[in-house]
Amino acid sequence: MKQIAVIGSGTMGNGIAHTFAQFGYLVNLIDINETALAKALDTIGKNLDRQVSKGTLTAEQKASTLQNIQTFTSLKDGVAHADLVVEAATENVELKLNIFKELDQYAPAKAILASNTSSISITQIAAVTKRGDKVIGMHFMNPVPVMKLVEVIRGYATSDETTKTIMALSENLAKVPVEVNDYPGFVANRILMPMINEAIYTLYEGVAGVYEIDTVMKLGMAHPMGPLQLADFIGLDVCLAILKVLHDGFGNPKYAPCPLLVNMVAAGKKGVKTGEGFYTYT
Ligand code: CAA
Repeated sequence: MKQIAVIGSGTMGNGIAHTFAQFGYLVNLIDINETALAKALDTIGKNLDRQVSKGTLTAEQKASTLQNIQTFTSLKDGVAHADLVVEAATENVELKLNIFKELDQYAPAKAILASNTSSISITQIAAVTKRGDKVIGMHFMNPVPVMKLVEVIRGYATSDETTKTIMALSENLAKVPVEVNDYPGFVANRILMPMINEAIYTLYEGVAGVYEIDTVMKLGMAHPMGPLQLADFIGLDVCLAILKVLHDGFGNPKYAPCPLLVNMVAAGKKGVKTGEGFYTYT
């Protein structure tokens, strides 16, 4: 496996492209938007600089990582020779189903089609292709170059061979893959999102302020970020969308999104990406 196509050049897509390229894979980074691709390359360059200044990467490794990445605005051209496609487009079911229909048409028949979805059903995505055995979830965590986990999600039809290939590939990226089955939120978000939602309820009910809630969890539980800061970092719209998937998927009121989260997203306060969420960012 040498040629990797990554669909979507946002935060996750550029982190995934960075990581594969750093470990010697040839990456085609694909986005419909030329400006987004230029911005992604700039971000990858800056994140590589961070690694060079920390001494975890040499200047030569930075140069070869960048050389391993090519950008494309045509999905058809970008996936034509792919051994693996990792889709990291916006978290929207219709969009992902359309992308997978196209991938099935244009990617080589032997190619594995992976999705970085944080909560959309892999089984549903696989069902729009004629290669359900080769469709799998490859859920990276943000920031991708730093976080060790890959949650590997087996859909209903995913084969043992595909799973084994993706587990081994993740290890080649110096990650720790963990195999899970395809149910709402998988494992990561089934556990993380109720914690974030409970932190928002704690704020909403006036039990404590933003600083206090985050400090309790940071210093009391040794979390690198408090849950409200983490929600800002993930994106409040993304948190809301994942909670809706859990709520709809299990039909259990314990997953109902806190009204404060719903209001903040409606008001456009989506966290770091909009400059304001539970904190303000300049
Ligand atoms: N690319 C490359 N390196 C990066 C980076 C990036 N984008 N961002 C940070 N780094 C590196 C830094 O260079 C630094 O490296 P060293 O350890 O070698 O010094 C290291 O990461 C730590 O960075 P900083 O010192 O700048 O900052 P920090 O110590 O505060 O750590 C953090 C930053 C790693 C983001 C940390 O705060 C953290 O772990 N936060 C929680 C992250 C988390 O929970 N992610 C999962 C979110 S959920 C998700 O992604 C999935 C979903 O479905 C919602």
